[in-house]
Amino acid sequence: MVSGQQGAPYGVLSKRGEAGACEVYLADDPSRRRFPAAGIAAAVVLAVGLVTGGCRPEPDRQAQAGVTELEAALDRARSASAELGRRLMTALGEQLASGAPATAIGVCSEIAPAAANELSRDGLAIRRTSLRYRNPGNAPDPWERVWLERLEARLAAGEPLQEVHEIDAARGELRYLGPILVGPGCLRCHGAEDELDSDVREQLARHYPDDRATGFAAGDLRGAFSVRVAMDSPASD
Ligand code: HEC
Repeated sequence: MVSGQQGAPYGVLSKRGEAGACEVYLADDPSRRRFPAAGIAAAVVLAVGLVTGGCRPEPDRQAQAGVTELEAALDRARSASAELGRRLMTALGEQLASGAPATAIGVCSEIAPAAANELSRDGLAIRRTSLRYRNPGNAPDPWERVWLERLEARLAAGEPLQEVHEIDAARGELRYLGPILVGPGCLRCHGAEDELDSDVREQLARHYPDDRATGFAAGDLRGAFSVRVAMDSPASD
């Protein structure tokens, strides 16, 4: 948190132009393979555009409409993630500067969901999730779990992390994950348990008896911003 002023906001790795940051994943869950062909074309064209053209989709007559809508939905997902990260960093930075870390716990427990709710509008819904969550309400759904596990495996293998997105044609929405990494400032509340301030430990034990979100080290995958964006015609032709 502390690294608010210095580093990338909230450790989000979704900036365009960063090495690997624009790679597109397509899910390999067979139940999600039933995209109408144009949807796949749109996603593939976008992937090619992202990788080779600095995040600009190649024009393609058939897939153009889908690409444009996909691109717009992706932009919204990225902006919402960056904005939520910014707000949390600012709020936590202010709290940590003006008081003990234990009082800053309120930022994560109250301000984070409030900010997420505020940014969730016009067909966009954003939340935070994690494999090792503190608040059970942030537990990942099956799609989020699969991708968080893959991201963790990538990180463990020393590969660069990317954002993840996939069109869920059945639900008519884009799903997006923006990975969140642990920064040094996060360790005050997410680091090794025996290194936490005793008042932080007490507060956490009181509010989160089943806390799984300690024991992280800087550079670990902490979780992700998870965004859904409703699309009018996710497989439009
Ligand atoms: C002052 C203590 C504190 C600091 C510092 C802190 N967190 Fe948290 N964090 C919490 C609390 C408390 C929650 C549970 C919030 C809730 O109830 O929704 C939480 C939850 C989260 C979650 C949601 C998933 C979950 O475990 O429920 C993420 C992601 C997260 N923190 C990331 C970070 C990152 C990244 C940093 C550093 C940039 C950070 N936190 C710094 C206290 C802190």
